[in-house]
Amino acid sequence: MQEFDRAYFDAGVERRGTECVKWDSMAAETGDPEMIPMWVADMDFPSAPGIQAAIERVAAQGTWGYTRNGGEDSESLCSFWERRHGVRFAPENVLLSPCVVSGMRIAVQALTDPGDAVLIHTPVYGPFFDSVRLSGRRLVENPLVEEEQRWKIDFAGMEAAMKREQVKAVMLCSPHNPCGRAWTSDELQSILDLCRKYHALLISDEIHADFVYPPAVHTSILSLAGEEDAVVMLCAASKTFNIAGLQQSSMVSRNPAILERLKKHRDVTGITYGNPFALAATRAAYRDCDAWLDGLIRYLADNRELVMTHAAEKWPGVRVTKMEATYLMWLDCRALGMPQEKLLEALRSAHVYVTDGRFFGTIGDGFIRLNIGCPRAQVEAALHQMDLVLSKDQKQSMEEN
Ligand SMILES: Cc1ncc(COP(=O)(O)O)c(C=O)c1O
Repeated sequence: MQEFDRAYFDAGVERRGTECVKWDSMAAETGDPEMIPMWVADMDFPSAPGIQAAIERVAAQGTWGYTRNGGEDSESLCSFWERRHGVRFAPENVLLSPCVVSGMRIAVQALTDPGDAVLIHTPVYGPFFDSVRLSGRRLVENPLVEEEQRWKIDFAGMEAAMKREQVKAVMLCSPHNPCGRAWTSDELQSILDLCRKYHALLISDEIHADFVYPPAVHTSILSLAGEEDAVVMLCAASKTFNIAGLQQSSMVSRNPAILERLKKHRDVTGITYGNPFALAATRAAYRDCDAWLDGLIRYLADNRELVMTHAAEKWPGVRVTKMEATYLMWLDCRALGMPQEKLLEALRSAHVYVTDGRFFGTIGDGFIRLNIGCPRAQVEAALHQMDLVLSKDQKQSMEEN
């Protein structure tokens, strides 16, 4: 049996020349062949062998006409969530959509009316903002608060905003990108209770559910008491198994009226699904790839330790958020006192391409996000290059000049 150990993930995969955004768009934009991509959230590992075999079988068909979404697609999703996250739902609770961002937009448009207030917790993944604004809904921000490098929900602020703005829906990123939180069941219950109290629906994006590092666990919003009247959960195999380019995700709700509204809106927009490669790959991911995923999580946990240790030793002006989940590290660089553009420019001159914290809202000014979903040698090379901008010695020499 194949081992998914350190050597397997160390080997990575050559992605340059595959038209991938992470390497090829970056190279086209910067023209720098030495630039190290530590930005957009996909990984520089091969997808699991079970997925590759499934795709090869579909490729060998030699014909790829309209393809049905058979019962097995939703069944494999349900059994994966029960096995990995201890939450049960049924195939009739599931609707397919092309990607999680499209699911997010369908949910906002189907479940709220133009002008309605939708609350998000910032900083948060950029498309949350657009899902509200581009739909002509009113954006209400409830900023997260940081305590000892751990970001928390300001529940008093959330309740005040829900009451004041008459919020009709809350969008939650769970686990949280970019702050790396795996929300506890108490936190989630408090969010749900507020939604029920103020008659708001809760849209929970759980695309990062599979990247949670012990002792933290992922608690799905679907496992809480009283969720049936208020919740849509969005999920996908795309992030977990590095198949985001295939474009398939799911919307899950136990409430038939909510499902009906989602389905109707999906039909109105003409959004379809049923790409034969995506269906086969996703079924294989949910059924056959647990050993690969377990190995991946162990590997990413070690990458995380490497960055934490390195930053603590070498970067006095940077505070690294405790990452309980995701493979995206949130670095607070405000103490460096550098304007954001200068910081990004300096890192790019050092050949490291990170995500600008402002992608997650204005509250992200002074922060950067570092993607550690790549072979250890790539993380090490990026850290080494980042020393040129962030290390003690560098700081001293900048002060002396
Ligand atoms: C929280 C979150 N939701 C959604 C997505 C995008 O998912 P998809 O490619 O399925 O639209 C990402 C990608 O980084 C993400 O971090």
